[in-house]
Amino acid sequence: MIKVDYNLLEEITELTSSDWSASDYIYPPVVAWDKFRGKTFNYRFSSDSNFYIYIHLPFCKTRCTFCRYYSKPVVRASLYKKYTDLIIQEIKIWARKINIPKEKIKLKSIYFGGGTPTLFDLNKIFDEIIKHFPLNYLEQVNIETTPESLDTLNKILFLKKHGLNAISRIMIGAQSLDTKVLKAINRSQSQKKDIKKAFYLCKNARIKTIGVDMIVGLPKQTEESLLKDVKFLIKLKPQVIHLYGLVKSPTTALSGKEFFIIKKLEPIMKKAKKILIRSHYKSNRYTEFDTEWLYKGNEKFQNKQIFLIPNEPQKLNCKICIGPSAMGYITFPNGEKKIPKRVMFINTWNFDEYEKKICGGKLAIDKYYKFNTPEDEKRSYIIRNLKNDTLDYGLYKKKFGTSILCDFSEELMLVKKHFEGREECVESNSKLAFSSNSKRERMVLARLFYSSKIFNRCMDILETENF
Ligand SMILES: C[S@@+](CC[C@H](N)C(=O)[O-])C[C@H]1O[C@@H](n2cnc3c(N)ncnc32)[C@H](O)[C@@H]1O
Ligand code: SF4
Repeated sequence: MIKVDYNLLEEITELTSSDWSASDYIYPPVVAWDKFRGKTFNYRFSSDSNFYIYIHLPFCKTRCTFCRYYSKPVVRASLYKKYTDLIIQEIKIWARKINIPKEKIKLKSIYFGGGTPTLFDLNKIFDEIIKHFPLNYLEQVNIETTPESLDTLNKILFLKKHGLNAISRIMIGAQSLDTKVLKAINRSQSQKKDIKKAFYLCKNARIKTIGVDMIVGLPKQTEESLLKDVKFLIKLKPQVIHLYGLVKSPTTALSGKEFFIIKKLEPIMKKAKKILIRSHYKSNRYTEFDTEWLYKGNEKFQNKQIFLIPNEPQKLNCKICIGPSAMGYITFPNGEKKIPKRVMFINTWNFDEYEKKICGGKLAIDKYYKFNTPEDEKRSYIIRNLKNDTLDYGLYKKKFGTSILCDFSEELMLVKKHFEGREECVESNSKLAFSSNSKRERMVLARLFYSSKIFNRCMDILETENF
């Protein structure tokens, strides 16, 4: 019987959570990826390939204390201009790499993420995109924004100018509307006024999908203030409402701190659920930590993020990553097999290095990982689902054609043994279902599903002095 060293698993959890962007469920963790060298990238694209552009714009007016994403507080207008120009250069470099006639490039989606994209000159960036990519295959344009930075129609004029309103999705990050909470998380306190303005501006621009992000579990937040905020938002009738449970990532200023509301997350989410259902919202995704609500009758809106949809396995799909810390991938046809081969890559997080690479005419990719075996994909799938509260044996079988109980019998036994006699983990109907308060434990136990090669790489990094 294997003896689990929980201290070791905890240590690796700390190490891999220090990766930015969503790293707590990425397998393998970015720290264990391979260093990228220019010649690693010699893929051949064709007119049959699908492209998705993700642009990371990592500046904000202030740094919110809860934020787990890669962004820096920047006020100097000259820096915004400088990085807009670098982004434009990077688009040119990618277009050269793709090297197929513009009219044959199938660009399916563009995502402006951040940071706060609406603090940058999106019209200028878009003008560069359309110099190299045609719009006739485009199915979706996504923009993340803060309420206060979406203050004039000019910021999103390109959507109107090119008739993209019907395929656009703008997510406004409200987080909270309570001035005490906003002060505690270092955000503008005129959120109620700003969100109304941003919302009506999107409506006037005829943006098809307008959504609002809220967080449950912030400092100073109470059940009363959260439910009051939800009722306020419902009156605006956004097509999408996200209620995210706070993730206290070690990269945030809130790491290690306890707030009263966190312990009551589940009952509060349930109360919010009742209000939303009464107000004609339908749940599209519901785990205790991450809920998505769609306004009834509007479910057909373009809410799915196209680049996250399982790709057409018989084609090459490429998510182009632009901007510091942006992550991309390429998937390749894999004969008759259902799961395509794939390689993931990530741009450097270091601004100086980013600038140096782009000015030298090179891609800004820093690390990559090639998924060579179905085993890698299985491990990645299990870790993602461990994070999301349910491990469904049937769905695993459907996806991979093998039984999880045979593939990972020892690891699963250790997970069950860890929770033995506790209600945090229940096995029934061929599923393992976890309660939300066991999330941290699950993220530690996820390390049981690392391959020995990846586990040892993490150990090596832990032992080096640089970490
Ligand atoms: C990348 S952020 C950008 C949004 C925009 N800059 C803003 O502040 O509204 C996208 C969303 O991630 C969510 N988010 C960020 N940090 C989080 C955390 N620690 N826990 C849960 N959700 C978080 C927020 O709801 C936010 O709206
Ligand atoms: S939540 Fe938004 S505005 Fe705040 S630091 Fe993160 S990306 Fe910037």
